[in-house]
Parts: sequence; structure tokens; C-alpha cells
Amino acid sequence: MSTTQTETAIWDIETVDPAKALEIETMRGNVASNPEAFWLEQAGRLDWATFPTIANTSSFEGDVSIRWYEDGQLNVSVNCLDRHLADRGDEVALVWQGNDPGVSRQLTFRELHAEVCRIANALKSLGIRRGDRVAIHLPMTPEVVACMLACARIGAVHVVLFGGFSPEGIGERLIDSGAVAVITCDAARRGPKTIPHKVTIDAALKHTGSIGSVKNVIVVNVSDTVVPMLPGRDHDYTALVSGQSTTCEPEIMNAEDVFFLLYTSGSTGKPKAIVHTTGGYLVWAAYTVDVTFAAERGTTHWCTADVAWITGHTFVVYGPLANGTTTLLFEGLMGWPHAGRWWEIIDRFNVSSFFTAPTAIRALMRDGDDLPRRHSLASLRRLGSAGEPISPDAWLWYYEIVGQKRCPVIDMWWQTETAGPMLSAIAGAQPLRPGWATTGIPGVCPSLTNEKGEELVGSGEAEGCLCFNTSWPGQTRSIWGDHKRFCETYFSFSKGRYFSGDGARRDGQGYLMITGRMDDVINVSGHRIGTAEIEDAVATDHSVAEAAAVGISHDLKGQGIVVFVVARSTRVPPSEAHLTKVISERIGRYATPEKIYLVAELPKTRSGKIVRRLLRKIASQETDSLGDLSSLADVTVVPALIGQVKEQFQPA
Ligand code: WTA
Repeated sequence: MSTTQTETAIWDIETVDPAKALEIETMRGNVASNPEAFWLEQAGRLDWATFPTIANTSSFEGDVSIRWYEDGQLNVSVNCLDRHLADRGDEVALVWQGNDPGVSRQLTFRELHAEVCRIANALKSLGIRRGDRVAIHLPMTPEVVACMLACARIGAVHVVLFGGFSPEGIGERLIDSGAVAVITCDAARRGPKTIPHKVTIDAALKHTGSIGSVKNVIVVNVSDTVVPMLPGRDHDYTALVSGQSTTCEPEIMNAEDVFFLLYTSGSTGKPKAIVHTTGGYLVWAAYTVDVTFAAERGTTHWCTADVAWITGHTFVVYGPLANGTTTLLFEGLMGWPHAGRWWEIIDRFNVSSFFTAPTAIRALMRDGDDLPRRHSLASLRRLGSAGEPISPDAWLWYYEIVGQKRCPVIDMWWQTETAGPMLSAIAGAQPLRPGWATTGIPGVCPSLTNEKGEELVGSGEAEGCLCFNTSWPGQTRSIWGDHKRFCETYFSFSKGRYFSGDGARRDGQGYLMITGRMDDVINVSGHRIGTAEIEDAVATDHSVAEAAAVGISHDLKGQGIVVFVVARSTRVPPSEAHLTKVISERIGRYATPEKIYLVAELPKTRSGKIVRRLLRKIASQETDSLGDLSSLADVTVVPALIGQVKEQFQPA
């Protein structure tokens, strides 16, 4: 099926509900005519200790200052828990499905509130105070949500770290964030395996050495694994938390106080901590979940993202809980112990909104239609997708087989930096189109620019760089400790605009389709990895003179990594297995390349720049369309490269 056929066939499939269309049109009109009033009205979604009198005081010029609800004061945990106690205290806030299908737990708002207060008091008993950074390195268990909210309660800044980071990667982040404590577990369960967590943290802390600031490590018992405990530094979670009081006075935070840091990758080798602040973030989380997914009371919301990603922060924890809906947390793996595991969970807990990533949709699709068809899936109302472009055929499969042509598929475009969806179809308000992330949600002003950063004005057909012309409450405020890098990365490309790093195409109706990253970032199964991160990791090996990493198209992962390595002539050439190990030790196993090619030379321009475009073509076996080679310093490198790659290539 060609893309065009698919697009026309589906264009009108979702009938527009005139009432919904009018509601969204009115919102768009309101925000266009008086953005201050609109965003102050959205602030009314929360309970504030001091209600803000101003909404947006941001500027994208000069030293870039993003500020929202500046004179407002609030506490996030109060908004996610306390304010629901009176009318829905005994409703379920968190449904937890363990790795083992026989194990699950439900916590009401009241129970979660009590647990959060206990943890908050425990953190305080260790001397942790407002503004301190606390790293959270936990699997998908109820404790991870409770610990995030406990940090929010006392005004500590959480830094949730992905379980797949290597000890070195974690150590680097602990130093950069200046974390004073780490909350981890003995070992996590993932399908049939256990993944050491405490051992990883011990190794990470060895790595940070004397420059690290971690004084306390709290260890949750997840899998009854015996782990070494260092007296004075390490604390057993249960012993520390269980005796604490179930009340804890919330810390009243200023709207612009830092709420959390979250690491992501950019085009340099050093991972960056994206800074989000308290008031704007929570308004945005509450607003975006509600506007895209209709967060109705009593419905169960399941976003399969790991909490260590922005989707996990906003669509697993803060968005659903701020709206008072039930959120589902799944500890295990998609296909374990059987391929229909996710469908079983949807039926078991009557999930109404289901949100996942295209990489998962592709894998589920590969397992066939039979598995989802064997389940009822009747509770589903809305389906979401984010993290990478979704192809029209995967969109259609999701719509027809999972959603039974009853549930709209909502493709949302967002980033760690945007904190929530920016582009998204709104069910009922507009026709859906597979493969297109549609338009800005009310209050968001997307634009396209050419490569010089000049806006391609109007709403006609165009292709260019995806920018945003105005701020939104959930916009990142800075890169932790490096505001200069923040200004350069996002605001130097096009004056007065935020540049996302992505390319996009616009059709005649103003719909947007994401074409992928325009910078040196590879998106592997929805994980952002900088090419420079991989190159830096490989280059630490003494046998390597030079390396270049590129992303190639991959059926399941979206993109896969291919690395070209030039060995030092004076050393024994490294093996592929050895270099793979180097990468997984320095970054994590999620950055494992599809293939590492040992080559004699890399293609470079006369000024010495590696021509990645060419390497991408060669890695994708597209050698008959190499394009213009005139910028190369030495064209003879190319046939030699092709020959070396051919020799080492093994078809999958
Ligand atoms: C990509 C993940 C196409 C994009 C939420 C962006 C998407 C990067 C979509 C951010 C989508 C996210 N369609 N591409 N619906 N959503 N992306 O920070 O390239 O981990 O810049 O946040 O994912 O990745 P991040």
C-alpha cells in the first residue's frame, strides 16, 4: 500500500464531533486573542497555595529566560494526592502489575498519600532538604512513583535514572547533578532475568570517587537478592520508611523552583540534564493529558513508557495523578511469559487509554493479528503513540486490530525538552491521518523554517526545520549547569524561535509529518543517543584512532546504530565484540550497534569533517545513489570503503 493511498483511504475515517470541534476551536480562538487569560485559566486546573497573577514572562531573545506563573506557589504532591482525598481518597490511584502475572497491587489515593509522606519523612531524617538532588534508580514498582512524589513533597529535585545506563553513565550523571542520595533496589526483575541495581550503583559510586556528593543510598527490596550494604551510607528502605509518620507537611514551592532534572542526549558527547520547574510543568502535564486523552475520573490510563523517560514522568505519573485518574504501572516485559501479555493486562484492568511507542507497535504487529484478537480489548477508548515517527501501516494496524476501528489513534510529537505533547490530533476535533503528527495542540505555535532558520511563512505545503514561535508552560528552562549550551542548542538556529532538532513536512491543510532528527541524534527504539556519545565511548579504547557512528533504518527499532572504526596502525586491530563491550560499559546495552566496521579511512571533506551522509548510504547498502562526492578530500576512499564494508557485511 503506498503512503498516498493510505492517507486518502483513512482521511475521513474518524468522524468529527461538531461539539468537540467547536470546543477546541473556541480554545484556539481564546488563546490567540488573549494568551495570558487562557494560560491563567489553565492554571486553575491545580490547587495553588498562592494563585499566580501572571502567566508567561518568557523571552527567547539574548540570554533566553523561560518563566511561567512566576508569583504562584504550590506543591506537586498536594496536587497529585491530597486534593483528591476528600472526594476520591478510596479510589485507585495506582494499579501495579508485577513482572510475575500472579502479582499485582492497587493503591488508593489515600494509601499512596500515606506512603509518600512516610518516604518524605524518611528523606528528611537523612538530612535531605528542599533543592537537594535525589537520584532515583528503580524499576517499575510502586516505590518509584511514591519516591518521586516524596521528593516533590519536600521540594527535593528528583533525577530519575534509566536502569539500562552503565555504572560509568550513572556515575557521570551523579557528578553532574550533584546528587546527595540515590534510591535504588537490590535487583530488578525483567521477565525471566534479574538485573543487578545495587551492584551497578556501588560501581557507579566507585567511579565518582571523591568528587561525588552522594551521602546516602536507600535500597528497596524488590527481588530478595542479597546485596552488600555499606554501614553509614546504605539504608534498607523498609527499615527506614516503615516506622515514619503518615503525615508530612508539604513544602510550599515557588512556581519557578526546579522540580526535576532528566538526562537526555544531544549532539555532543556529554549527556545533558534538562531542567523542568514546578508550576509550569504541572499545569502542562495536567493540561496535555486531559486535552489529548480526556482524563476522566474512574478511567484507567496505561502508558507503557519507563518512568525514566519524559513520557513516564508526564503520562505515567504526574499527568494522570494531577487529573485524579488511575495510572497503571507494569513491571515486566511486553512478551513475557507469553506474547499476549499486554492484551491480557488491558482486559484484566479495564484500561481505557493506552499509550505506547511505535517500536512496540511494530513488534506487536510482527506477532500477528491473532493475539490481540483473542482478547476482548473492549475497555479501550483511546490509543496513543509517541517517541518516533509511526509509519502509516503500523498506525493502521494499531487502529484496526487493537482499537477495533473504534478508538482513535493519537500520534503525539514531543521531547524531553517539551515535557508533554506539542503536536497531536485531538480526537473528535479533526480527521486523523496515519503517519502525521497533525497540528499544534491549543496554545502551541509550530512553525517551519528553511536551513538558514528563516520562517516558511503561511500554512501551505512546505518542508523544513520544526520550530516553535512562542513558549509553553512545560518548556525546559535550561540545561543544568550550562545555560550557554541551552541558548546555543535551541535558540541560536532561528532568532526568536525554539528549534526542536527535528525536520517536518507540512501539507496544504497545515498538518505536520515528522521526518526525523536533523542533528546527530539517533533514535533507537525511542531512545535518543548522540552519535558523539558513541564515538567518544569507542575512542576511549587504545586500539582506536577514529570512529564515526551513523543511524540506519531498522524494521523493529526504527533506527539502528552502525559504527565505522579506524584502528591505530601501531596496535592490534580491535574485534567487533570487544568494541561492543566498550560501548555497553560506557553507555549501556541499549546503545549496542547493529554492526561495527573496521575500515582503513573515513570519508572527509577538505576541511576534515567526516561525511556522515555518505557513511549512512554505505551502511544501508545504498551504494548506487551516493550523490555528489565533489566535497571529499580524497574520492578514492569511497570504493575502498565500500569494498571493506562488503567483506565484513553479514545479512541479518
Ligand atoms: C522523536 C520522547 C515522530 C523526535 C517523547 C523527538 C517523534 C524525539 C514523535 C524526542 C512522534 C517523539 N513522531 N517523532 N510522534 N515523538 N519523536 O526526548 O525526533 O526521548 O525530537 O522524547 O523523539 O525524544 P525524547
